[in-house]
Amino acid sequence: MIGRAGWTMLAGNNIMLGVSGSIAAYKAVELLRRMTEAGADVRVVVTKNACRFVTPITFGALCDGQVLVDEFEDWDRSGIGHIDMSRGLDAAVIAPATANIIGKIACGIGDDALSSTILALECPVLVAPAMNDRMFRNPAVRRNIDVLRERGMRIIEPETGALACGTEGRGRLASVQRIMDELLYVLSPKDLAGVRVLVTAGPTREHIDPVRFISNPSTGRMGYALAEAARDRGADVILVSGPTHLARPWGVEFHLVVTAEEMRSVVMERAQDAKVVIMAAAVSDFRPRTVSGGKIKKDAAQRSIELEQTADILADLGKDKAERILVGFAAETESIKENAMKKLKSKSLDMIVANEVNRTDAGFGAETNKALIIDRFGGEMDVPLMPKKKLSQLILDKVSQLLERQGISP
Ligand code: CTP
Repeated sequence: MIGRAGWTMLAGNNIMLGVSGSIAAYKAVELLRRMTEAGADVRVVVTKNACRFVTPITFGALCDGQVLVDEFEDWDRSGIGHIDMSRGLDAAVIAPATANIIGKIACGIGDDALSSTILALECPVLVAPAMNDRMFRNPAVRRNIDVLRERGMRIIEPETGALACGTEGRGRLASVQRIMDELLYVLSPKDLAGVRVLVTAGPTREHIDPVRFISNPSTGRMGYALAEAARDRGADVILVSGPTHLARPWGVEFHLVVTAEEMRSVVMERAQDAKVVIMAAAVSDFRPRTVSGGKIKKDAAQRSIELEQTADILADLGKDKAERILVGFAAETESIKENAMKKLKSKSLDMIVANEVNRTDAGFGAETNKALIIDRFGGEMDVPLMPKKKLSQLILDKVSQLLERQGISP
């Protein structure tokens, strides 16, 4: 099965989705659909109150019928519901989690199918609270959430916004995307634990005057996918991004820059203690020699703009002999391998990822990418067209191998 991102990123994982009685239970339907689309095998345990908002049939239709509500009513002599549901899991997600189920978990109460299943869990547990903002601020609820956290459960903080009770405040269930991201984080191997990884992303803008600039169509997707994948694999990520429309990834040190010069100065400073630098940004090679302080009027416009070259950040990093893995990208329209090899050598890189940027399904702006990955030891991998999220994992697999081969540790 192919997920929304075209990639079954949860394939092979057994997940339990626990749904308790909040109006946000309707969002658990979309969450379940996203999990199964991503290839996970999901079983659902629903409280009786949750069934007042969404029927078990809805959940059953989306997960091959593995739904438990009441083990006494549903008992079929072949097993014990809550024990069967808790076996062989890679992770459990309680979403939405009401103040009531959070309290029961904190106190170790098992008085229905969901709370009893949770008592028997031995896998990582993610808890996504959803409730009225005053209930969420209640000291007893705060304390119970702290207890869950102390026991190693991962709390997916609720958002601030309009609540079903008509007020505004903090208590709205985290977005389905955020819960999916947290689940992927928990399930990812932590082979880059503690490794500081600096990633650049997006375009740079070189201003002609305050309202005009030279740039390129980079959307930042490849760099952001790399930063998120490295975070999920346990790295300490620094993301240096040019202007993009993408949401800032959580759990990374984020720097927004505009010009190539700003990117160079942040990268040079923050790369000092990084063990991996991945330059996925499409840095502008040229900038106007002079920048007008005011908007250039139409009738005063010159016919040409004098340009000068920007500093090559990657080449400068290559000259610095620090112990780190340096990964470059090559945006090419022709002679891809030859040009990529030249950049690999001239910039002293450990690895280069070359893209054909004149295709519509790869390179700038596309969800997918096709690449040729070459490392300095002669290793070569021709990667077929695939989602940028999946390509980012392959790139990090190679980075992880290079770190090991060169004996670089965090
Ligand atoms: N790069 C950089 N600083 C620049 C220009 C590029 O660090 N001023 C980095 C990019 O982030 C990328 C790599 O260099 O990782 C190659 O960029 P690319 O645009 O493909 O190549 P250039 O070296 O700019 O050469 P050309 O434009 O002539 O192909």
